[in-house]
Amino acid sequence: MSGPLDGRVVLITGAAGGIGSACARRLARDGARLVLSDLDGAGAEKLAGELGQMAVRADVTQHADIERLVDEAYRQCGRVDVLFNNAGVIRVQRLLEVTEAEWDRVLDVNLRAVFFVLQAVVRRMVRQAPIAGSELRGKLIQTASIAAYRGGSPLTAPYSASKAGVVSITRSAAQALAADRITSNCICPGAVDTAMWAQIDREWGDLEGWERGHAWKRRTSIIPLGRPETPDDVAGVIAFLAGPDSDYMTGQAINVDGGLVMG
Ligand SMILES: NC(=O)c1ccc[n+]([C@@H]2O[C@H](COP(=O)([O-])OP(=O)(O)OC[C@H]3O[C@@H](n4cnc5c(N)ncnc54)[C@H](O)[C@@H]3O)[C@@H](O)[C@H]2O)c1
Repeated sequence: MSGPLDGRVVLITGAAGGIGSACARRLARDGARLVLSDLDGAGAEKLAGELGQMAVRADVTQHADIERLVDEAYRQCGRVDVLFNNAGVIRVQRLLEVTEAEWDRVLDVNLRAVFFVLQAVVRRMVRQAPIAGSELRGKLIQTASIAAYRGGSPLTAPYSASKAGVVSITRSAAQALAADRITSNCICPGAVDTAMWAQIDREWGDLEGWERGHAWKRRTSIIPLGRPETPDDVAGVIAFLAGPDSDYMTGQAINVDGGLVMG
């Protein structure tokens, strides 16, 4: 297969999930060679089988798993052109009910792991030749969220803090790695129809005494573009960030949210 991402090696974490798998499908269609990773090894394997790509089961909170994942990507593909650092978790609960264990769980996956996956990839990326036909050596893409600034929910304080941290890490990496010709950007999706939002709907609804589906309707009914976000809405922007047309962008947090947050 050939396309605008022909031959680019893209490592995706959280690849078995809603956004990760839609992006994998899109990037494969555009010609990329993918390393699909997830805690859900069976899910990553299934997708890899379908797309004719490779899968590596990894828990991104575990240092040994990160090293094994990145080693395997470099061993089998020789390089990583694009890291899509996407795995994430959420918990909806009242501020006063957040325990230290819950705080640690959300921050470990969404922030600590994002940093150390990025670091492990960049340690190798800085030593590789530029991407074919590009002045860049590599591209980093993180999945943050509009929760980073919207402060929207009093019910997701650890999650919102973790995503604000992802925006910050994105910009630190952009500054630190510009001279090495590595760019770093993140996307901020809005309300995307995935398993994560099904969990939000359930947990938020349980707190408020709402029927299933009510929290989802409540959030998506205020989207200016008038419909919920699909994982494919995110995938198009990821394809742009992984490809050559975004080479002069770095340090940016890009809202992909149907207009929920403007300005
Ligand atoms: N769904 C939304 O509305 C929305 C909005 C903004 C941002 N996001 C972010 O998008 C990203 C993808 O979320 P999604 O909506 O596709 O959710 P999802 O639950 O469908 O997918 C998340 C994936 O991450 C994997 N994962 C979780 N913990 C992991 C770990 N320790 N190691 C490796 N993999 C792990 C899960 O197995 C799952 O496949 C997340 O970072 C999420 O915070 C989602």
